[in-house]
Amino acid sequence: MICIRSINALRLHIADEKRTSNTIGFVPTMGALHAGHISLIKHAKAENNVCIASIFVNPLQFNNVEDFKKYPIQQDADIALMEAAGCDVLFMPHTEEFYPTQPKISIDVGLLDRILEGTHRPGHFSGVTIVVTKLFNIVAPDKAYFGQKDLQQVAVINQLVSELNFPIEIVACPIVREQNGLAMSSRNMRLSNSGKSIASNLFKALSFIEAKIKGGEKSVTILIASGKTYLDQFKEIELEYLEVVNGNSLESITEIKEINKVAICIAAHVEGVRLIDNLVIIL
Ligand code: PAF
Repeated sequence: MICIRSINALRLHIADEKRTSNTIGFVPTMGALHAGHISLIKHAKAENNVCIASIFVNPLQFNNVEDFKKYPIQQDADIALMEAAGCDVLFMPHTEEFYPTQPKISIDVGLLDRILEGTHRPGHFSGVTIVVTKLFNIVAPDKAYFGQKDLQQVAVINQLVSELNFPIEIVACPIVREQNGLAMSSRNMRLSNSGKSIASNLFKALSFIEAKIKGGEKSVTILIASGKTYLDQFKEIELEYLEVVNGNSLESITEIKEINKVAICIAAHVEGVRLIDNLVIIL
């Protein structure tokens, strides 16, 4: 694996790869790697000649400065993990080169910015679209890989690629979970063992609602109330939102009818760490 820090050096390397018609699979990350990231690298490696990954903690997508400051950094461990996973090129840009000035351009993703994560993390998706647009322009991959844990981020990036005509296929990869069901996340590193065990109840609440949907319950109000009642047992969980939405558009619904996909989405705080998870059900 080669590590590249400068944008020009990466561009020169990519031009060489393209001369030999190599296809490029790209995995953008913010580091603090876990098994979810490794599965993205493995998918990219299996489907392309070359796997390029990036590690860049993007300051623009943190709506909360404290959250940015506390974001786990483990550069040496991440480099070793990327190499072991089979990554060919690791791009780790310097912030000063990546953002020589604060970008003045912003991309409004419309409705997706006014629901779920958009409502709770103002400015988050505009930071994500800027960094992803810049990375796509620099790397120019054939395919780019994202985890479905960030379900709404995948929807935003699909919209970005479609509306701005990026010739890139977006591949959404399944959520990787701990044995107890907790969705893998870099933020889990900030949880104690007991916090991790408590946090696994977020997935259990989603599964509880899923069972009710499969049992025929159609009312979203009843489904959400039952999930909240389940979570009420755990005083350590501070719920931010729990929603059952249209699994295609992520728009809110009142009843489960005339749709082929439902998404149950949750955000909550455990030990001061903000966690998100979701479950998509094909009907
Ligand atoms: O999902 C993430 O880790 C980040 O949002 C991404 C896509 C790398 C952009 O900074």
